[in-house]
Amino acid sequence: MAEINLLSSIPKSRRSVSERKEAKTQEHINISRMYGKEYFDGSREYGYGGYKYDGRWIAVAKDIIKHFNLHKGQKVLDVGCAKGFLVKDLVDLGMDAFGIDISKYAIENSVKGIKDRLFVGNANKLEFRDSEFDAVISINTIHNLIREECKIAILEMQRVCKNKKNIFIQVDSYKNENQKKIFESWVLTAKFYGYPNEWLELFKECNYNGDYFWTIIE
Ligand SMILES: C[S@@+](CC[C@H](N)C(=O)[O-])C[C@H]1O[C@@H](n2cnc3c(N)ncnc32)[C@H](O)[C@@H]1O
Repeated sequence: MAEINLLSSIPKSRRSVSERKEAKTQEHINISRMYGKEYFDGSREYGYGGYKYDGRWIAVAKDIIKHFNLHKGQKVLDVGCAKGFLVKDLVDLGMDAFGIDISKYAIENSVKGIKDRLFVGNANKLEFRDSEFDAVISINTIHNLIREECKIAILEMQRVCKNKKNIFIQVDSYKNENQKKIFESWVLTAKFYGYPNEWLELFKECNYNGDYFWTIIE
């Protein structure tokens, strides 16, 4: 199990580094947690403010392939694939990649040509066979479940992955009080989050042996 930044090629978030100016309301949270059009392609206060393919995941896909030493035709699953950008780039690089996401909107509006590889589903109940995949990736997704469900999602990822070390999980975190304050002013969908040691504790409870990294707003 190692901490590794597989998203180092992506430019730092364009999110403001200071706290959110206008207070977030329960309505913002409720709407963003529906993972519909407002969350992906609505205004910024509900989520992404426009989630469009721009090729930034190509370099990440290359880094994933290199890191796990994957070969052409091997099976990769992206848990929380949204519109399938990473799945597309993995497929273009020769992987037999698939994705699942809770958002029907995201799958219906997925990037061209890979819809048959994307499924609506919950990270805590993967509809795949044991050991079906050579690698399993989940980026900025499982913190959207409560702690107990989050554990189930990690166990599910381990179940469907052949080599339990070929898993990468990235989640929201913060390393000091200031980062925590900024994070809490922005957070809309996450239900479980904490300092890295809190995540590491949860990983330990799952006997997680894969790799991981943190998304920190700073
Ligand atoms: C912040 S987005 C990340 C999307 C993509 N992985 C990326 O990094 O661009 C979080 C994603 O998790 C999905 N999601 C939320 N809860 C989920 C669940 N229980 N099971 C599967 N996907 C979920 C959302 O629909 C959304 O696509």
